[in-house]
Amino acid sequence: MTTILAIETSCDETAAAVVVDGRHVLSSVVSSQVDLHARFGGVVPEVAGRAHVEVLTPVVADALAQAGVSGPQLDAVAATIGPGLIGSLLVGVAGAKGYALGWNKPFVGVNHLEGHLHAAFLEDPDIALPAVVLLVSGGHTMLIAMEPAGGYRLLGQTIDDAAGEAFDKVARYLALGYPGGPAIDREARLGDPQAVAFPRGLRGEGYDFSFSGLKTSVIRYVQAHPEAATADIAASFQEAVVDILVEKARAAAAAIDARSICLGGGVAANSSLRERIQIAAQADGRRAFVPSRAMCTDNAAMVGATAFFRLRTDGPTPLDVAADPNLRLTFV
Ligand code: KG4
Ligand code: ZN
Repeated sequence: MTTILAIETSCDETAAAVVVDGRHVLSSVVSSQVDLHARFGGVVPEVAGRAHVEVLTPVVADALAQAGVSGPQLDAVAATIGPGLIGSLLVGVAGAKGYALGWNKPFVGVNHLEGHLHAAFLEDPDIALPAVVLLVSGGHTMLIAMEPAGGYRLLGQTIDDAAGEAFDKVARYLALGYPGGPAIDREARLGDPQAVAFPRGLRGEGYDFSFSGLKTSVIRYVQAHPEAATADIAASFQEAVVDILVEKARAAAAAIDARSICLGGGVAANSSLRERIQIAAQADGRRAFVPSRAMCTDNAAMVGATAFFRLRTDGPTPLDVAADPNLRLTFV
C-alpha cells in the first residue's frame, strides 16, 4: 500500500489530498481563491502566490486529518511542479519538499496536465483503452490518445487561445463576471444557442483547434448589435465551442478506433459539453467518461494519482528539481 500526500498550487486553488495506490482518495481538500480574484476580473499572480502561502499549511493539515493519516505514515509527498504560475507553483513545491525532508519521505514532482489526464481514471479505473482524452482547461486544449500499453500521444491542440481562455475572455467582454466559464454556462441556459451562427474554427481540418477568431467574432457581433440579448450571445458562443470540441473528439476517436472518450480540465465542467459528449459517444458505440465537476477542475487528488504511477516507473524526483511554469507534457 502506497500512501501519498499530494499538493496542487499551480493557479488559484490551494489543494491537498491523500491518495492510496493511485486510486483510493482518502481526502481531497480544495481552497479556492475565486473571491480574492473576482474583483480584478482574473487571477492576479502576486495575490495568488501570497494566498497559497497563507492557506497551504491548514489545507495540508485538513487533508491529513480527514484521511486519518499522519506524516510519518506517508510513503511520499508529491506536488505539481508545472505548468502554471511560477509564484504559485513555488509555494506548493517548496512546501512539499519541506514536508518530504521533515518526514524523511521521497518527493515526487508531477506535471499538472498529466494530473488532469489521470482524473477520469481515478473515478473509473476500468476505462477501456485506447481512449481519446479531450483536455480542456484555462491554459490548454488538447486531444490525447491513451494507448493500451500505457503511453499517450498528442493528436491535436489549440493553435491560439485555450477553450477556457475563450470562455473567460468572452465572459469578461459580456460583463458576466469571473470565472467566466461557469458564468457563461449559467447565462447560456437562458438563451438560444442558434441565435447567432458564430464561426467554428478549423472545422473539418484535422484535430487542431482555434478559438481566437471566435472571440473576435463575438466582440464584433456585439458591437454591431448592441441590442442583442446577452443570454443569446452566451448560448451561441458556447454552442460554437462545444460543437467543435465534440466534433473533433469524435473524429479523433473514430480515427484511432478508441473504445472510450474521456473529458478532463476545468472546461469539462461545462454542462453542454458534458451532455453532448455523452450523446455523441453513445451514437458511435463508444463509452464517454465524464469526471465529476470537482475532479475536472484543479484538485490534488489527480496529482496524488499521477504521483503514484510516476513513483512506480521513475522513482522519486530529486529535491533540486525546480518549478517550471512552462513544463511540457512528454508523450511516450
Ligand atoms: O483546469 P482548470 O481548473 O485550471 C487550469 O488548469 O486552467 O480550468 C479552469 C478553466 C477556466 O478557464 C474556467 O473558466 C473554465 O475552466 N471552466 C468552465 C466551466 N467551469 C470552469 N468553462 C466552461 N464551463 C464551465 N462550467
Ligand atoms: Zn488545471
